[in-house]
Amino acid sequence: MRQAGRYLPEYRQLRQRVDFLTLCKTPQLCSQIMLHTVERLGVDAAIVFSDLLLILEPMGMRLRFSDGEGPSVGPPIRTAAEVGRLHELERLDQLDFVMEAVRLTRAGLPADVSLIGFAGAPFTLAAYVIEGGTSRHYHHAKRLMLGDPSAWHALMERLARATARYLLAQVAAGADVVQIFDSWVGCLATEDYRRYVLPHSRAVLQQLAGRVPVIHFFTGNPALLPLVREAGGDAIGVDWRIGLDEAWRTVGYDRAIQGNLDPAVLLSTPQVVRDRALAVLRQAEGRPGHIFNLGHGVLPQTPVENVLTLVETVREFQPTGRP
Ligand code: CP3
Repeated sequence: MRQAGRYLPEYRQLRQRVDFLTLCKTPQLCSQIMLHTVERLGVDAAIVFSDLLLILEPMGMRLRFSDGEGPSVGPPIRTAAEVGRLHELERLDQLDFVMEAVRLTRAGLPADVSLIGFAGAPFTLAAYVIEGGTSRHYHHAKRLMLGDPSAWHALMERLARATARYLLAQVAAGADVVQIFDSWVGCLATEDYRRYVLPHSRAVLQQLAGRVPVIHFFTGNPALLPLVREAGGDAIGVDWRIGLDEAWRTVGYDRAIQGNLDPAVLLSTPQVVRDRALAVLRQAEGRPGHIFNLGHGVLPQTPVENVLTLVETVREFQPTGRP
């Protein structure tokens, strides 16, 4: 996550010439930066260089990425009367640049490196549409969800339909795996997840089932884990707020698990990175089906050296003691 990003001097250099949105809409640059990053890091999978908010533009929202402030989406949709402003994703061709980035990246990757396509899960997209950006408490989103469930469900259904089509198009363009990111869903109570989110995430995941493996990633509230599992996904992506061993036990060993080193560990020293990475690996007990990953994106202040130490540690790890 944030495999190619501001922690890399090459990326920062590129960004001095090109703003982020233009970069996302220039498939040659997207594939170049990702192919370069994958080669530099020596990882087993690449994620398409893009952003989960891009889908909102052809649905009628204005997008802005300004340095230091995070993304903004506008004008925010806060009432039932405004829900119609987010329209159906009619013209998938307006996201052709993403499909081209998928094709070019796939073509440039070694055959044994998987390419992960991705999209935001309906809740995380709805949170951006309603809040207008990243938020601390998601009060506007919760107000609509709890105060006007029929408007909420209409919005979520529209996002779920768009997301499924978008992901299927990425698969058609060559993505080997897809991941849905429910980055902000951890703000919810379990019962609210069950009632207001689960059916919509499930609708997306059901449309992908049997086509390519799907990773269902979320953060923030490990108590949601059994419900996230219920919503679906061949692999469940978890953050560091729960031990990987407990997370996998909860998810069940019939599913794969992805995670879950705290990205802040990469701000420390190579020795701490090694120790903490080994601790996560040991919790997987050598079972097949563990995708080692961070629990969330690489932080911009991360020393590249620590990322390289992490990859080396995971590559060299030999599981022992599994009966
Ligand atoms: O390298 C990769 O991992 C692939 C590309 C990728 C980006 N965004 C690029 C990006 C992926 C998979 C995403 C997903 C994404 N985007 C998520 C889900 C993952 C997560 O972190 O929870 C979310 C919530 C977004 C929305 C978004 N886009 C945010 C919150 C930000 C600001 C981040 C920050 O630290 O300021 C972005 C911008 C963004 N997306 C950058 C990159 C490389 C930084 C852009 C820049 O300033 O150059």
